[in-house]
Amino acid sequence: MIVAIDGPAGAGKSTVARALAERLGFRYLDTGAMYRAVTWLAMQRGLDLGNAKVLADLARTEPVTFDEDDRVWIAGTDVTSLIRRENIDRMVPVVARHEPVREIMRERQRQLGRDGNVVIEGRDIGTVVAPKAEVKVYLTADRSIRAQRRMAERPGIGADALATDLRKRDSSDADRMQPAEDAHEIDTTNLKVEDVVEQIEALVRERTAV
Ligand code: DC
Repeated sequence: MIVAIDGPAGAGKSTVARALAERLGFRYLDTGAMYRAVTWLAMQRGLDLGNAKVLADLARTEPVTFDEDDRVWIAGTDVTSLIRRENIDRMVPVVARHEPVREIMRERQRQLGRDGNVVIEGRDIGTVVAPKAEVKVYLTADRSIRAQRRMAERPGIGADALATDLRKRDSSDADRMQPAEDAHEIDTTNLKVEDVVEQIEALVRERTAV
């Protein structure tokens, strides 16, 4: 079974998806981490982030992998914490915008999601990567709350810079951020993580009972 969790930055996807996967005993796949890792490597190698072909070649020849502790690897480097830095936050939408890059990433995501039960989080999972996912959820939250959550994750950044970054990322991610028609939308603005996880778990149980 595939549980697809999509939504904008700061809507709570990672926290919810991880907790849900643990609770259900499903694997967890963070597709944002894959775009982040390719972005990190492209910057490390000084590649032109505007060149779709060069980046697609990079994504093809240097696949992102996850180890059993869910650490993120690319080109022999553990990039788990390196990809959570502000410079990556800022540049990843530039890389993720290229369709040839997305095609390679999506194919890899489909492979990684193929066997067994998995919770996959991203932006286009319910719509493009796994349109047949048995359960699709689209998380949202007010932008001010999303900015606050990002601030807790990136204590070094000022509130204004963070709000601006979030706005920019929202508009650049917007075309990939449409909810699937059959997605269950959950507004997490006033909800606790456990409540969101419980709601999704109920959807999974309903689906398993069918
Ligand atoms: O969820 P995140 O912040 O780690 O995602 C990082 C970036 O990758 C974000 O700008 C959107 C992009 N992304 C995407 O385009 N498609 C996905 N399936 C996942 C992430």
